Amino acid sequence: MSAWQRYRDLTGIDYPIVQDGMGPQPTTVLAAAVSKAGGLGTVSSPSIVETSESSLRTRFRAAIEYVAEHTDRPFAVNVPVGRVETGELLLVSETCIDEAIAAKRDGGRVGSQLVALTTSAGYPGEFISRIQAAGLIHQAKVGSVRHALKARAAGTDVIIASGYEMGGHTHVNGVHTMVLAPQVIGRLDCPVLVSGGLCDGRGLAAMLAMGAAGIAMGTRFIATVEHEWHQRFKQRVVDTPEWGDAVFQGVYAPCRGLKNPGLSRLPDALARMSPDEFQAWEEGEMRRAMREGDIENGLLPGGQVAAALDDMPTVAELVTRIVTEASSLLGLAGATAPELLAPHGAGVTH
Ligand SMILES: Cc1cc2nc3c(=O)[nH]c(=O)nc-3n(C[C@H](O)[C@H](O)[C@H](O)COP(=O)(O)O)c2cc1C
Repeated sequence: MSAWQRYRDLTGIDYPIVQDGMGPQPTTVLAAAVSKAGGLGTVSSPSIVETSESSLRTRFRAAIEYVAEHTDRPFAVNVPVGRVETGELLLVSETCIDEAIAAKRDGGRVGSQLVALTTSAGYPGEFISRIQAAGLIHQAKVGSVRHALKARAAGTDVIIASGYEMGGHTHVNGVHTMVLAPQVIGRLDCPVLVSGGLCDGRGLAAMLAMGAAGIAMGTRFIATVEHEWHQRFKQRVVDTPEWGDAVFQGVYAPCRGLKNPGLSRLPDALARMSPDEFQAWEEGEMRRAMREGDIENGLLPGGQVAAALDDMPTVAELVTRIVTEASSLLGLAGATAPELLAPHGAGVTH
């Protein structure tokens, strides 16, 4: 059985395409559209810096329920497991994982459709067994072979191997997708999704041929009709030129985003604010761009792959296009593999 077949059987989705979490906004309309199109939509965490537990719970639960009401297909949630300067867990980690577990346990539509919880950022440790005990698949997003092995040894069900070119909070020690993916796939016995820099059927075909269970994408899904962020942010992703991205100090780790005048305000903000003030300011600036469309002064998390995008399809068009292109490439490669790999001069008769 292929890795994709194992993942399909685990999750119940139709196509090996996952929409990865994109906070600090819940991405509910997008998640419902992706799941409806046969992929796995993901509800993102509403905030990283929020300090009100009840606000986090209410917003996260409402987002989960929205998706369950707008599709009858399986979906996931994403919660970063990060730590503040003193080593304590971010409030969002404990609270949103707890709320997702409670939603799953309450049963009903959410109970049957919410199938997976993806943790990211830090080591998920003791959360893994709590997540699994509630009947959820645990997916760990990691950026290195060592973290993949550690999460798998701790019992995680699925690894998302995310390369340094990814948008949003990326890794302190960056390993790029084409270096990371084959190593993680080759060394793990569980389904591995690959993320970071993927946007089309060529990427999906390559990753499936490599033994991945599928691909997880963020940036590509921003530039879709259904994505609920401001049209100017979405169009800015499509308009991003090559070399239009940069890595800067994020809320809790390095963050990859799109270059704009807003980014030049960051060094000054870092110099004059306390760490808490800076985190709140930065999250606010990201949200300003996402919600209000202030793409000049706000901050624009986004991946290097933005430069490869030139359209804004519906989610269904995108999923169909990626699957069709990947199927045709894989069919083609299978049919002609001996010729593709033949040494120079082979098969030539004189
Ligand atoms: C705008 C934006 C916000 C993101 N926010 C989160 C997040 O809240 N949690 C998370 O695990 N990953 C987050 N990511 C990373 C994505 O989940 C995903 O790993 C990444 O986008 C994959 O690379 P790609 O952008 O090249 O597709 C974010 C990415 C983007 C572009």
